[in-house]
Amino acid sequence: MKLRVVARQALTSEIEEFILADPAGKTLPAADAGSHITIETPAGAMRRYSLVHPGDQLSTYTLAIKREPQSRGGSTSMHDSALVGADLQVQAPSSDFVLGAKHGALLIAGGIGVTPIYAMAQSLVQQGRAVRVVYCAREESMAAYAEALRELCGDQLTLHLDHGDADQAFDFWDLLMEPTAEHIYCCGPAPLMEEVKGVTGHWPEGRVHFEEFKPVEVVRPDDHAFHIELKHSNQTITVPSDKTILEALRDHGVRVVSSCESGTCGTCKCAYSSGEVDHRDLVLMADEKASHMMPCVSRAKGERLVLDI
Ligand code: FES
Repeated sequence: MKLRVVARQALTSEIEEFILADPAGKTLPAADAGSHITIETPAGAMRRYSLVHPGDQLSTYTLAIKREPQSRGGSTSMHDSALVGADLQVQAPSSDFVLGAKHGALLIAGGIGVTPIYAMAQSLVQQGRAVRVVYCAREESMAAYAEALRELCGDQLTLHLDHGDADQAFDFWDLLMEPTAEHIYCCGPAPLMEEVKGVTGHWPEGRVHFEEFKPVEVVRPDDHAFHIELKHSNQTITVPSDKTILEALRDHGVRVVSSCESGTCGTCKCAYSSGEVDHRDLVLMADEKASHMMPCVSRAKGERLVLDI
């Protein structure tokens, strides 16, 4: 569907809130707490962003996006080019980070991982269910929605600030040493999620849930540049060492339909007729790999690859 950016505001110096609505004012598909939408950013990359407010009858979707200058351009494109009035292609909400029914919850957020956690807190409070929140951030001025969470959860919110000092990181062992009847939902940077995984190994199975909001690393430090030849247009394109085939194609105005951009959905599947492929996807069957590849993650093993596009 096409949605329009109808408002934006800075939540912190790095995090911008975007409000999207249907240009004709239609009600939007329902969004469960913890769900995300996939957006085609103005630069053409597909990116997943968690929805800040859940609901059945939403007229808008709210996103909070942190500018990640080190990223491959999705957040920068949203910050710089998704201005009020811009139209964006958006896929309906979906979720693999789902609140179970009935039980109380301990929600753990780090940094921009607060977006699905805030949505879950709203849903739990609305249902009258017990909720505790631990929100870790560097400084309060960098903690989006901290004030809103404080109003929502009162003294059930622990806002922990480490001021960028690893020695001041939150001590999760103290909190999680004794398993409780709660389910844990955790979203944040990899080190925080690793820490929570590490100290919850003794919790009952199925009680600790994680949202991996970072896309997989599709380009690796030792990747090399190579050339792709496009059979049907007779074009040759160089794929730099720090870009995917999909990104290089896009940079040259060649569109290949994509969705996950992490080798898991199968949308970008392409046939190839020459060259050796370093297959990195998780979808192709072994017998398909001799003739097809996923340009969002896979690369050439050698210097050249011929794609049937
Ligand atoms: S876009 Fe999903 S596998 Fe390439």
